[in-house]
Amino acid sequence: PDAITVQELANRMAERAGDVIKSLMKMGMMATITQSIDSDTAELVVAEFGHKSKRVSESDVELQLQGKEDSPEDLKPRAPVVTVMGHVDHGKTSLLDALRRSDVAAGEAGGITQHIGAYQVKVPSGARITFLDTPGHEAFTEMRARGANVTDIVVLVVAADDGIMAQTVEAIRHAKAAGCPIIVAINKCDLPDADPNRVRTELLQHEIVVEEMSGDVLSVEVSAKTQQGLDKLEEAILLQAELLEVKANPDRRAEGAVVEAKMEKGRGSVATVLVTKGTLNVGDIFVAGAEWGRVRALLDDRGQRVKSAGPSTPVEVLGLQGTPVAGDEFGVVESESQAREIAEYRQRVLREKSAVAGARGSVEQMLSAI
Ligand code: GTP
Ligand code: MG
Repeated sequence: PDAITVQELANRMAERAGDVIKSLMKMGMMATITQSIDSDTAELVVAEFGHKSKRVSESDVELQLQGKEDSPEDLKPRAPVVTVMGHVDHGKTSLLDALRRSDVAAGEAGGITQHIGAYQVKVPSGARITFLDTPGHEAFTEMRARGANVTDIVVLVVAADDGIMAQTVEAIRHAKAAGCPIIVAINKCDLPDADPNRVRTELLQHEIVVEEMSGDVLSVEVSAKTQQGLDKLEEAILLQAELLEVKANPDRRAEGAVVEAKMEKGRGSVATVLVTKGTLNVGDIFVAGAEWGRVRALLDDRGQRVKSAGPSTPVEVLGLQGTPVAGDEFGVVESESQAREIAEYRQRVLREKSAVAGARGSVEQMLSAI
């Protein structure tokens, strides 16, 4: 069962640890400040101090974070969220850069400023696509393992001069495990030894049957270098999104996932968050994994300040009390006390986990020393 140290319990009640120890003594228990007491005893102490106790569990936390289910009529179309995957050097980064340069909104806001882990592109028709720049397949799997299943579509980049390679196969496996539809971007088609047909044929062995092979997987020939086919790739993504009917309710408390987070000099902890539902506003109080904060400022993918961010929008969030981890879930809560409570609960769970791991480590060290 749950246990809590005397110090921790005192902190959570905003009482002095000495007074907690006294109260335990009255109950016939001798305890030190670092000692753990079980939750039943803790509850008695809490009652003794006249506080209300509430046992928090991860399922409570989830209930507090997740609001009501959305009814279908509240769902509005949103931009699809795309992750680009593929073998090393097949042109993932180049393709993302080229797509970002093709953004018709780029001119409007004064061009691209800095690197951010996710960005949105506006195509000439006005539709938008969100691209996640996850470095490596591990990050994709890790985010999924942490419950951040934010990708709608995987764009599989295959270099036309190289064909299917080890990490291409790995990417296919990851996409399939995530249940994400794949769009194949056959890249480097500008090269003289490009052989897109070979790519399409090789894909058959991995149960990817593209349209040209009478299957239903979309594939597009592109070149990140000459920008050839980028519009077709965007069209394919939007078509796939239509088939998937990607939607979200923008009129609710925001939920999302942390795409990346870091400490920055002069700015404090900064997290790039992808909003998955609801709308995030300046001033909102939120929890991000085991951290919490109040949104001090929001910056879009061009570093411009914005007041709010709706579904599928990546934003930089300022105002965190600590630095969360990529893949952490993000959710707006009603009050600061609720945010603190959830963050403290999760930090305690993390501490307990690392204590257990540490204890196990020392036993292993002991055994290996014999
Ligand atoms: P990693 O991040 O290392 O896995 O590589 P990546 O998949 O991001 O590939 P990257 O975009 O770094 O491109 C690898 C090399 O291929 C670079 O030298 C690019 O200039 C080149 N390249 C990328 N796209 C194209 C293309 O369409 N045509 C040609 N000719 N070269 C390309
Ligand atoms: Mg790269």
